[in-house]
Amino acid sequence: MNIRIRLMSILVGASGVAISLPSMIASPAVDQELAQQIFDTMLQVHGVQSGFRPVHAKGVVCEGTFTASKEAAALSRAAHFQGTPVPVKIRFSDGAPDPHVPDFSPEAGPRGLAMRFTLPGGEKTDIVAMSHNGFVVGTPAEFLALQKAVVATDPGKPHPWPVENFLGSHPLALKFVQESGGTAPASFGAEAYFSNALSPL
Ligand code: HEM
Repeated sequence: MNIRIRLMSILVGASGVAISLPSMIASPAVDQELAQQIFDTMLQVHGVQSGFRPVHAKGVVCEGTFTASKEAAALSRAAHFQGTPVPVKIRFSDGAPDPHVPDFSPEAGPRGLAMRFTLPGGEKTDIVAMSHNGFVVGTPAEFLALQKAVVATDPGKPHPWPVENFLGSHPLALKFVQESGGTAPASFGAEAYFSNALSPL
């Protein structure tokens, strides 16, 4: 499989592929009220700036084509696996809420990749992925509890902080935080991405 990318290279925090919010937290499985609570709490997190995404705020949008290898058609009937070049738009991002976080900062991880394939006939297929294998929590309710713990944490107060209590009782979340803050990749293109979300629209 090869992906030819002509880097449009616009450092943007505000525009982009714009695929994430509805498919991310308001899927049929998640009730609207919980989705709204999650989003409202995310907006209170330190570093979030209006006009930017509450997470993955800093990103770069690239445009190119995706051409599947000849073996791909034997694996899937998907339109983008048939070997004809398909236009793709990709937004690489730093996971942090701060739109000005330095890309090399330990706070910038995990990195994100959001990809939209525009299929013949105008249909779209999205992939949303991040550079950590496995998400920070298993359910939207746990994600809300994590966001609330982050918002309730005041570094000027004595330990244990609410977020430390949360991580103390959620080993996978602690592993996610510890592993996502490691050394920055040489480039967004040199990173491995893991997706939990694939949604033909
Ligand atoms: C409870 C689960 C989740 C919530 C509440 C959530 C929430 C969000 C929100 C609010 C945004 C900003 C959307 C926007 O303003 O356009 C976002 C962006 C993003 N999320 Fe999530 N997310 C969740 C799970 C995931 C998972 C499991 C992945 C990947 C495996 C992921 C990867 C991304 C990426 C890559 C972006 C940036 C998209 C872009 O560049 O347009 N998220 N998320």
